[in-house]
Amino acid sequence: MKSVEVEEVNTTGRYDKRNKLNDLTGKEWLKLTKSFLMSEKCSADRDAFAHPAPFLIKDVQKMISLFTKKDMTVLDPFMGSGTTAIAAAMMDRKVIGIDLNKSYIDLACKRFEKNKINTGNIHYIHGDSLIETKNITNVDYIITSPPYHNILKNDSKGLRKDTSSKGYRSGSRTGVEYYSDLENDLGNQESYADFLILFQRIMKNCYEKLNNKKYCSIIISDFTVDKKEICVQSDIVKLMQNIGFEFVGTIVLLQDNKPLYPFGYPFAFKINHMHQNIINFRKS
Ligand SMILES: C[S@@+](CC[C@H](N)C(=O)[O-])C[C@H]1O[C@@H](n2cnc3c(N)ncnc32)[C@H](O)[C@@H]1O
Repeated sequence: MKSVEVEEVNTTGRYDKRNKLNDLTGKEWLKLTKSFLMSEKCSADRDAFAHPAPFLIKDVQKMISLFTKKDMTVLDPFMGSGTTAIAAAMMDRKVIGIDLNKSYIDLACKRFEKNKINTGNIHYIHGDSLIETKNITNVDYIITSPPYHNILKNDSKGLRKDTSSKGYRSGSRTGVEYYSDLENDLGNQESYADFLILFQRIMKNCYEKLNNKKYCSIIISDFTVDKKEICVQSDIVKLMQNIGFEFVGTIVLLQDNKPLYPFGYPFAFKINHMHQNIINFRKS
């Protein structure tokens, strides 16, 4: 039973002063314990689409509000177009971001300028997360989305095939470029097993820099490898548990506005992925 001394009442509900995790009232906290979220766009997302696979700012903000307090430090070891930085800076959090690809850092800087983001608390490092994560300290929350193995690659010089003349895939992904040709790019690992091994090594470094009792969210969907559907979520949970993380549940991020493709029609069921899994972990 709560005593009056530990509660503060504001317009959105009661804030419990024993809450060491976030700045939310009980009511706000409860809403974010749902196992799904509807993905939500805002105008500041528009420029991010020069990157092949950006987060949306509002989606990231919900997670940051759940897992941090003001002034805490958020880490994104695959920061791409800088969405995590924008989301965190808008909420008065500090942020450390890393990306191998300089052109995404340039894109992020343009987004910071255009959206008048205070960059004082943003530390964006150009480099390989396997190395750069060794040089950071005092992380309160990790939120990130790695490359989805090599799914952006195909045989047409870095651009996805345009098969629209056959009546397929004329939607948003046609013409998408892959991240880079760098050997240590997670998206360039030869096999899915190699991808998992390198991802585990990077996340182990991140685990060591995360403060105790703090959280980590990995955003990823299932995908196909050699045309076979893979339960990526289960592999990510296993590898994170190998590192020492405790799995605390998945929030499904619903993306109901994606185009549908007739992949197996009219012969076999092939799924259209219309969501990402936000897979959450805690360091005890
Ligand atoms: C799915 S994207 C992240 C998108 C990001 N959430 C956003 O909102 O733009 C994955 C990113 O990981 C980067 N990357 C791949 N391997 C890396 C590595 N070893 N170290 C750092 N970044 C890497 C890629 O350049 C790419 O930008």
